[in-house]
Parts: sequence; C-alpha cells; structure tokens
Amino acid sequence: MKLFLDTANQAEVEAAVKMGVICGVTTNPSLVAKEGGDYIQRVKYFCDLVGGPISVEVLANDAEGMLREARELAALHENIVIKLPITAESLAVIKQLTAEGIKTNATLCFSANQAILAAQAGATYVSPFVGRLNDIGQDGMTLIEEIRTIYDNFGYDTEIIVASVRSPRQVTDAALIGADIATIPYKILMQMVGHPQTDLGIAKFEADWAKRNS
Ligand code: G3P
Repeated sequence: MKLFLDTANQAEVEAAVKMGVICGVTTNPSLVAKEGGDYIQRVKYFCDLVGGPISVEVLANDAEGMLREARELAALHENIVIKLPITAESLAVIKQLTAEGIKTNATLCFSANQAILAAQAGATYVSPFVGRLNDIGQDGMTLIEEIRTIYDNFGYDTEIIVASVRSPRQVTDAALIGADIATIPYKILMQMVGHPQTDLGIAKFEADWAKRNS
C-alpha cells in the first residue's frame, strides 16, 4: 500500500519526504485555508519535491467552472491530480478530464455506489472518508472492503485512497483490506513511527552499552 500525506503544510511535507515513506500528497480547501502564503507556488513546490501525485481540489460547483479550474491547475505541473467532490456535475467532468489525460481524484465518497460511479466515469482515484463515516455511527472500513471487492469483481483501475484517517490502526486495516493508498495526516505518520517498546529498547541498549566491560 502506498502512503500519501494529507496536508497543505510545507514543513510537514518536507519532513515526510525526508523520511522517504510518502509518494503523494492530498490537499483539500479546509487544509489549504489553514495555511498562509502563496498556495499555487506551494503546490508546484510539492509537485517537484514529492515527485508523485499532488491532489488539488476545484471549488466551482458547475461543470463549466470545474473544467476551467481543473485545466488551469493541471497546466501547473504534470503531477497535479484534480480533486472533485462526487456530484452529478462532477462525474461528467471526470469523464472529460480523463479523456484529456488529466488525472482525477473523486472525493467526499461515502458509499459504494458513489465509488462505482467514480470508476465508471474513469476517475484515477476515489477517496472514501472513513473517519467522517465513523463520526456518524457507520463503519468506514466496511466501505473500504465493499469498494475493494467491487473494484476487484469488475477489474476497475480506479485506485482507492483511504481518506479521513484518524488513527494509526485505520492505516493497518486499510492495508489488510488491500486499499491502494492511505492518505494520512502528519500526526498519524508520527504515531505510526513510534512504539513505547522501541523507546524502552533503545534506552536499555544504551544503558547496557554504557556499562560494558572494556
Ligand atoms: O483526506 C480527507 C481528509 O482531509 C478529511 O479528513 O479528518 O477532516 O475528515 P477529516
């Protein structure tokens, strides 16, 4: 399973790239709004630094506006992926962008049927939001299992990005199910790195080494 970082924060992307464990970045309007500075410059910087797909969301609601925004963003860099919330309007836009060779990420996916539609439209990626499903008392990981099974049943190429990840355990579950990608906040990445027994083990090795007979 591939790991993307779910952030628009430059320091977080730089740190994760330095660790060598992420191969893409996903942003959304809420994440971008939290950051200052020149958003377009930062996105281009991420494209070069990460060397993999960088999802950037369109804000227009109508097909014409989505297409215009998508084409402008896609022209910035070959690694740009256009993120569109799944709606009746956006499905047609995804189909058109796919025909133009522009990669898409069908986002705010909360049902298997939405994922089927995204795949039918030719989306490069679909982003089911597990955390927000759990927030409303549903099981986000069940949705990932359903989409995995359906995509495998019919050989859909659309890659599943497990999004709205709120705990390290959800990353493990996503990998066990066979999701293609998990996009994770930086905090979750750091939680994946650490384990109390690792810290204790390092401390014990250091203490034992300091007491060695020389
Ligand atoms: O990838 C989608 C993500 O940014 C949403 O996460 O925690 O706001 O539901 P969250």
